[in-house]
Amino acid sequence: MEYQLIDGKATATAIKQQIAEEVKAITKAGGKQPHLVAILVGHDGGSETYVKNKVIACEQCGFKSTLIRYEADVTEEELLACVDKLNKDDDVDGFIVQLPLPKHIDEQKIIMAIDYRKDVDGFHPVNVGRMAIGLPCFISATPLGILTLLQHYHIPTSGKKCVILGRSNIVGKPMAQLMMQKQYGDATVTVCHSHSATLKKECQEADIIIAAIGRPDFLTADMVKPGAVVIDVGTTRVPDATRKSGYRLNGDVKFDEVAPLCSFITPVPGGVGPMTICSLMKNTLAAGKKEYYK
Ligand code: GUN
Repeated sequence: MEYQLIDGKATATAIKQQIAEEVKAITKAGGKQPHLVAILVGHDGGSETYVKNKVIACEQCGFKSTLIRYEADVTEEELLACVDKLNKDDDVDGFIVQLPLPKHIDEQKIIMAIDYRKDVDGFHPVNVGRMAIGLPCFISATPLGILTLLQHYHIPTSGKKCVILGRSNIVGKPMAQLMMQKQYGDATVTVCHSHSATLKKECQEADIIIAAIGRPDFLTADMVKPGAVVIDVGTTRVPDATRKSGYRLNGDVKFDEVAPLCSFITPVPGGVGPMTICSLMKNTLAAGKKEYYK
């Protein structure tokens, strides 16, 4: 079967261009340039890359961006003080604390300290709760990016069987909420995880599979129904001597054998990844416009 590749990179580029045009119009009319701040703790390779790409995306969208760096031995008090300062800074429309944080810092405590009106990651319980009951809010970037891709490619979701692999707070849980809700996916949703006894069978019956378990090549051809839509959220760094960097990004889907079965599939890289950053830009624009909260 001929499958269609979902081009997240091109979709993200087009959306960032639209955002840039809107920002131009806002500033031309005397409005404020949106300002995103990112806090990066330590020197985790993945986090460094993500934050660097977020800063580049801000430039592409015409946003102001600020990067605040701390060493891995920063105290919880220091981080909380930084969050408090950003909460109170009227020039800052939105900010994110790049995860994961070092083990001695309570991630949830930091997230809870963020003013939910500036929580463009959509991780604060106020945003998570509002999303769960379908109220306007910041929706976390990866699930929002996936929804945008499905819409952009006119992939029908209403009434479809959607299996989500993984139950993380960042992807699996919010994705399930969104795919279930009438105003977003309107699908029949099943969430599978490392202890699901019927995982393979659930996947075989799915019209749409969203893989977010962080296990390279986990989803294989024998688990996929012909004509299914497969969205790969995995970005595990695996050693690869043929690359200059010494590693490559590997998705949760065994692409070569799964793709021929699919109607649509996302590649890794170039699928969900660029859309995640693009969604953060959407949220930052909404924060600048005070679209959800005064
Ligand atoms: N770590 C992995 N994904 C994300 C994300 O979307 N936001 C933040 N802040 N940290 C992350």
